[in-house]
Amino acid sequence: MSRRSAVIGGNWKMNTTLAEATELAAELTTRIGSVGHPDVVIFPPFPNLHAVDTVIRDTRLQLGAQDVFWAEKGAYTGEVSAAMLKSVGARWVIVGHSERRHIIGESDEVVNAKLRLALSTGLDVVLAVGETESQREANETQYVLASQLGRSLDGVDKPAGARLVIAYEPVWAIGTGRTATPEQAQAAHAFIRAWLGDRWSYEVAAGTSIQYGGSVSAANAFDLLAQPDIDGALVGGASLKAEEFASIVMAQRELLENDRSDTIGS
Ligand code: PGA
Repeated sequence: MSRRSAVIGGNWKMNTTLAEATELAAELTTRIGSVGHPDVVIFPPFPNLHAVDTVIRDTRLQLGAQDVFWAEKGAYTGEVSAAMLKSVGARWVIVGHSERRHIIGESDEVVNAKLRLALSTGLDVVLAVGETESQREANETQYVLASQLGRSLDGVDKPAGARLVIAYEPVWAIGTGRTATPEQAQAAHAFIRAWLGDRWSYEVAAGTSIQYGGSVSAANAFDLLAQPDIDGALVGGASLKAEEFASIVMAQRELLENDRSDTIGS
């Protein structure tokens, strides 16, 4: 079976000054600026989006934001709207990242409101979900994933127009150097895909890209990305190093090319 389109995201989090961001973007342009498959999306901090857009505009790299507010505009001091993001070149946005859920305290309801606003504005969305370590130990992983998906996607129609990507990011694997094993990740991804099938349809589930995130590195990327239900990665720490991020992108590219030659050969 041929693979769904895959997305490799680089979530820079609260890193990079303006000069560092444009330098990193320029280095990525040199290394992977012409890679169109997988989709490669970088997520710099808000103040650097416009400058990074000017660096990558004529490449195949895509631009995303790490967050968005749930109202269209108005008196929301400090917040950033979907229209603003689009106006500085962002096409994608992450919602529901575990750092926003657990450090900032965002609820599923807030994630849902942000997701709906982003999709209706035409932004492509990465919805992040994942269990904590204690939830995994208590065998609650599937319950947590189903509950986060159900609440975050409440009222959301089968994605049309804008694209919806799910990122499975076990909280205990984010920034810790402790990656889920390929088997653990595959099991969670298969569960998420089955959930999407129940929620929408087999076709939607089969066509939805599900990324893995949590301490992805050049060393572990290939084995994770080779799993049948893993369609890309959301990369944090390793996305700040151009060479390492590029090698994760190239691991995904190699897998896509192997799949294509299997399909052509069959
Ligand atoms: P990490 O972050 O790769 O540094 O673990 C992943 C993420 O938070 O998206």
